[in-house]
Amino acid sequence: MEKIIIEGKSRLKGEVTISGAKNAAVAILPATILINGVCTIENIPDISDIKAYCKILETIGVKINKISKNTLEIDTTKINSIEAPLDLTSKFRASYYLAGALLGRCHHAIIGMPGGCKLGARPMDQHIKAFEALGADVEIEKGKIEVEARKLKGTSIYLDIVSVGATINAMLASVLAEGTTTIENAAKEPHIVDLANFLNKMGANIMGAGTDRIRIQGVKALKKEGTYSVVPDQIEAGTFMLAAVATRGDITIKNCITKHLESITAKIIEMGANVEDIGGDTIRVTANSRPTKVNIKTLPYPGFPTDLQPQMGVVMSIAKGTSVINESIWDSRFQYTEELNRMGAKIMAQGKVAIFEGVDKLVGAPVSATDLRAGAALIIAGIVAEGKTEVLNVEHIDRGYENIEEKFKKLGAKITRVKE
Ligand code: UD1
Repeated sequence: MEKIIIEGKSRLKGEVTISGAKNAAVAILPATILINGVCTIENIPDISDIKAYCKILETIGVKINKISKNTLEIDTTKINSIEAPLDLTSKFRASYYLAGALLGRCHHAIIGMPGGCKLGARPMDQHIKAFEALGADVEIEKGKIEVEARKLKGTSIYLDIVSVGATINAMLASVLAEGTTTIENAAKEPHIVDLANFLNKMGANIMGAGTDRIRIQGVKALKKEGTYSVVPDQIEAGTFMLAAVATRGDITIKNCITKHLESITAKIIEMGANVEDIGGDTIRVTANSRPTKVNIKTLPYPGFPTDLQPQMGVVMSIAKGTSVINESIWDSRFQYTEELNRMGAKIMAQGKVAIFEGVDKLVGAPVSATDLRAGAALIIAGIVAEGKTEVLNVEHIDRGYENIEEKFKKLGAKITRVKE
């Protein structure tokens, strides 16, 4: 077990380069199953969720050659099983994309019911609705989900809830289906567009990704080879933007797509800090004074992302005035507020609403990363706080952030990782 130790009260200053997007990479990796060939994926973040995904893919016959830290060559010509190991798939949420990808290619898939961050109930009814609409039978038994179709036939799928996962699974299952599929009320997140770009580059015919109506014209096969580079991570970029505001810092963030950061930028400006688009996929965030209160409601893209809610919570906990967060996506995403309260914050959370009475300062304490983004938020809190903070359960953070302590260290944080 490892923990992160931070000596606080640093003002972050300097440059940071954003890695490839976790949520795009965990969709593109299983999507390579549809290729039945060899492709090279660049700008893959070096994080534990990717390592776990590679391990699962290897158990079903995929050959993965690590060309460099962030580039993988993936050969899916010899898939030899439609059943992914239960113990591995149930460990993290994005393993559910194997269901859509294996269904698309082999018309049959068995995976463990997926796990992931404990953010509240995470049903799969919309994924199932999409698979069934395309002609598959779905059975859930003993912690497994099995999907099977004699033939996949294009259809119209209306999602009752805007779901990233269900949108992606519907895309994966319909790329090689017969005829045209439309996904209505689709999610519009950047990783959905990135997956569509990858699949189209490989010969798929997907239109409208990034809008709430995606149309997929089924094709007989995809190209047998190709190269693709994963989009930069919107959430990692937002994490560093909010770290700049929290520490009254000056951070230049390279390799980010400013369009993806509009909702965050708007809130940062509302809090009195500056965001400058300096071109070439680079923005600079500067903050010279204590942030002022702000209210947010998390929403599907292009709204404020739930995955930046905890990091924003740190800024609110030290802002001038009282701020409110309305979490509209997950039922249980305020566990980190108890950890921040141990550091002197004054947060009252109930259900899907939290009220942040801004305090002058936070004080270092031992805290626990309750989930991935909560962990990133606690690191920011530790950098802001007076004295020493120890962040436990860092394995959650390693699921989604590449080299996080090195990136913060380069910006001036006094941060180290030690074995417990
Ligand atoms: C993805 C992200 C996660 C992010 C979330 C919302 C990945 C790997 N993970 O998760 O980091 O927090 O989007 O932006 O990309 N729902 C249903 N039925 C379903 C599916 C979802 O009711 O069949 C509900 C969920 O309970 C939740 C909401 O829909 O309340 C959104 O979930 P969804 O967009 O599916 O999230 P994930 O794809 O799991």
